[in-house]
Amino acid sequence: MSLKGKNILLGICGGIAAYKIPLLIRLLKTQGANVRVVVTKAATMFVTELTLSTLSQEPVCKDIFPDLFSAKDDWTRHITMGEWADAYVIAPATANTIAKLTAGMCDDMLSASFITLRPNKPKLIFPAMDGEMFSSPSVQRNLFWLSQNGCTVVNPESGDLASGQCGTGRMPEPETIAKMIAAAVASNQQDSKLHGKSVVITAGPTREKIDDVRFISNYSSGKMGFALATAAAARGAQVTLVSGPVHLQTPHGVNRLDVESTAEMNREAKKHHASCDIFIGAAAVADYRPAKAASGKIRKKHETMGISFVKNPDILAGFSKQKKPHQLAIGFSLETAGNLRNAKEKLEQKKLDLVAYNTFDGKTSGFEVDTNILTLIDKNLEIRELPLLSKQEAAEKMLDAIEELISSDKKTSDE
Ligand code: PMT
Repeated sequence: MSLKGKNILLGICGGIAAYKIPLLIRLLKTQGANVRVVVTKAATMFVTELTLSTLSQEPVCKDIFPDLFSAKDDWTRHITMGEWADAYVIAPATANTIAKLTAGMCDDMLSASFITLRPNKPKLIFPAMDGEMFSSPSVQRNLFWLSQNGCTVVNPESGDLASGQCGTGRMPEPETIAKMIAAAVASNQQDSKLHGKSVVITAGPTREKIDDVRFISNYSSGKMGFALATAAAARGAQVTLVSGPVHLQTPHGVNRLDVESTAEMNREAKKHHASCDIFIGAAAVADYRPAKAASGKIRKKHETMGISFVKNPDILAGFSKQKKPHQLAIGFSLETAGNLRNAKEKLEQKKLDLVAYNTFDGKTSGFEVDTNILTLIDKNLEIRELPLLSKQEAAEKMLDAIEELISSDKKTSDE
């Protein structure tokens, strides 16, 4: 995906993550993009206009009113900026600016050019702030509204925050943002093989009831599945996300169905078996469930207690069993290091077109964390080892591999 000749408007707000933006500008320029920068007044407390204009090779815009003494200054630049841009990226997006965008205010260049952006151009919003601020009801309400109204809201990652706390709020690294911009622009160009395809993704954990107040589950946060949904929607796919209980925002343009148990996830997924083009099993599905969930609360009576389990349906294998030649079945296989063989077995047993062998190490890859180490194995047993990547980047790589499968399958059927 190339950014050559594309016009990227970059809005910077006053947050500490603004220190990453000069690097982002360099990356975008290296990829051939034209970059113009608009800043809020507060942004200039964190990063200088001189740095931004030197790297973008364009004057930085801040004031909505032009310089009255400059003959060159443009009276209508709040409109021309919006007309010029192929994509508008706001990073970092602060709670204040998010509220202004939601309310439709336009008292500075950043918010005015947001309103004047031409219809159907990608708008990517990267909120970055303290974790408590991010999860506050007003910020969540505003982000929800933005995501319902044409913006791709990319949730911040977890890690060390400027407040000294550790939690959700970190803006993704410039490399990740650059890749997302490229994917968004490409999907807008309608040249993605996923454009118009129907994609079903399972995500998160399932809960299997023991009684009315207890359940058995796992540590899946849903981040990997939601990253795939974000990336697929940005490439123009129609995404249905069947999610177990997680604390994540619905990605823009994604149809989300919340479920709890494996049986429910299976029921919802099955409704889309016939109509979907691609089925991706990113959920950590419980293989077994208690044979009978007790009603009420089991009382504490004995020193030990046994629960007997029965096997759950395999949602992904169920899809593969009935799939037509044009449909693709994609799965994950979470294994401790060195168990590639198990992943290959799953590829064969579940008749998958692609499996992502997910190396579980408890620290950088697997449940809850923001990164994964994946090895992609396709149905021709072609193996692609990926380095440690953010889940968003890993999702992009998986979608690239899926697009290649679509192209090669098409070639074979054309021959
Ligand atoms: O959610 P996160 O915190 O981001 O963590 C990501 C993840 C670890 C959950 C995810 O990336 C991942 O690896 N998911 C698959 C976990 C796994 O090992 O699943 P499995 O080996 O039990 O199953 C293999 C495949 O079959 C998976 O695609 C799974 O979704 C699917 N499956 C399994 C059992 C079942 N009953 N139904 C299924 O569809």
